[in-house]
Amino acid sequence: MTTPYNVAVIVGSLRKQAFSLRIAHAFAKLAPASLKLNVVTLHDISFFNQDLEASPPADWLAFRALLQASDAVLYVTPEYNRSIPGVLKNAIDVASRPYGKSSLLGKPTGIVSNSPGPLGGVSAAKHLQQILPGISGPIMQQPEIYLNAIGDAFDEAGELTKESLRPVLQQYIDAFAAWIAQQKK
Ligand SMILES: Cc1cc2nc3c(=O)[nH]c(=O)nc-3n(C[C@H](O)[C@H](O)[C@H](O)COP(=O)(O)O)c2cc1C
Repeated sequence: MTTPYNVAVIVGSLRKQAFSLRIAHAFAKLAPASLKLNVVTLHDISFFNQDLEASPPADWLAFRALLQASDAVLYVTPEYNRSIPGVLKNAIDVASRPYGKSSLLGKPTGIVSNSPGPLGGVSAAKHLQQILPGISGPIMQQPEIYLNAIGDAFDEAGELTKESLRPVLQQYIDAFAAWIAQQKK
């Protein structure tokens, strides 16, 4: 068997019980053997400040190194006020520097938004599609996935209980695996 591709799954919410975190863990369980998912939370990433570029904080360097060591990136994010949460934008800003040396460059990228509401965080996903192209790798275009009504999808322990969602997540992660393999050829 060939070595699996390492996927950094970046979670756009800091909330302990975040649906985004639960979805990330569900993907990790459903992923085919060709992928190894590493769920990454953003609690420890300090604010981007261009003044610190000459001597970056250890947490920036660790985050950049983690991304550089990954073969692909998957964002799982909620929508805050019709965009992405500030913590996710901050992490992307940190990853994007130094100028021209973004740690995301060339990494095949997936975007999964979610919301307890009816629109599935589609605006957050669209904003990611706007800001990533210059600093990232190719973004998978199909299947699109905006997970609406996510509020009743998990039990207290964070296990996926909404059976109608399972095949949706499975189809996405299988498609992502196949697409990454294509990109890496
Ligand atoms: C500051 C803030 C802004 C929000 N804005 C939106 C929004 O624009 N669209 C939406 O569908 N939900 C919005 N919500 C509701 C979130 O979708 C909901 O809190 C969700 O559970 C957050 O994701 P998480 O479970 O991954 O933490 C907002 C929540 C907060 C706290």
